[in-house]
Amino acid sequence: MIDGRTKLVGVMGWPVEHSLSPPMHNAAFAALHLNWCYVPCAVAPEQVGAALAGLRALGFAGVNVTVPHKQAVIPHLDSLSDAARAIGAVNTIVVGADGALHGDNTDAAGFLASLREAGCDPRGARVLLLGAGGAARAVAYALATAGASQIVLWNRTPARAQAIADDLRPLFPHVAFVAHPLPDDLGAFNVTSDLIVNCTSVGMWPHDDASPWPNERPLPGDCLVVDLIYRPQETLFLRQAHAAGARTLNGVGMLVHQGAAAFRLWTGAEPPVEVMRAALLTALAR
Ligand code: ATR
Repeated sequence: MIDGRTKLVGVMGWPVEHSLSPPMHNAAFAALHLNWCYVPCAVAPEQVGAALAGLRALGFAGVNVTVPHKQAVIPHLDSLSDAARAIGAVNTIVVGADGALHGDNTDAAGFLASLREAGCDPRGARVLLLGAGGAARAVAYALATAGASQIVLWNRTPARAQAIADDLRPLFPHVAFVAHPLPDDLGAFNVTSDLIVNCTSVGMWPHDDASPWPNERPLPGDCLVVDLIYRPQETLFLRQAHAAGARTLNGVGMLVHQGAAAFRLWTGAEPPVEVMRAALLTALAR
């Protein structure tokens, strides 16, 4: 029950009405009998600074930050975690007792937790990443911290892949970052990969019939193929991978674990991951 002691957290985005985080976090608070509430906050781009000052003023314990504000919040924060600084994006803010705003990024840790849940340890892995947006940046950082040996970045706009490689290379000298220069022939180039991750939005609902991978070239069968997309839960890309005999993983686990990591940062409590996953799957099925 919401009363005078309820602690507030939420998600800042524009729009936010399709966010699955409110049901996921509120189910977790209920399961642990925590008097907390997670609310959607639709914040227009020109209101980001005012909204962050408002968090302080209203006594919020923290927020998640989603599209399109993950970079725009940074100049308004008092401190950043190493992950948020290296990725250049914040998905979780913690409001300190003194009102200081600390920015973190739990997307990277969430991705690694979902990989490990699937039995994959990326140490030494050769990875092919499709895409070079914010999600790809978090995944590349995550895999570099986990000891991947090679990260090949392919993107429709090659300069964005090059920028990720250039930004992360100095931080992780043991990782071979390769930005693939040719945008058009993903099917034609030959790299041996232990792990292939789709970080593009290609195949996301309502464009379920699209895949970033060309149909005429089979995916390798001897690797783990991950799609960060969770709507639909089985994209055409994952069906192509399945047909090739590869193991597959969708984006539900990353979404659950980035949320679990944020929950831990705000409450200090151990998140009920299975409760969160069940609430998320129920919300996705609606
Ligand atoms: P996010 O923060 O979710 O990663 P983003 O920064 O908008 O979102 O990145 C979207 C990614 O999907 C980019 O890699 C984008 O490629 P570009 O950098 O060339 O824009 C990729 N993408 C989106 N639509 C695409 C399409 N139709 N074909 C190929 N790549 C596409």
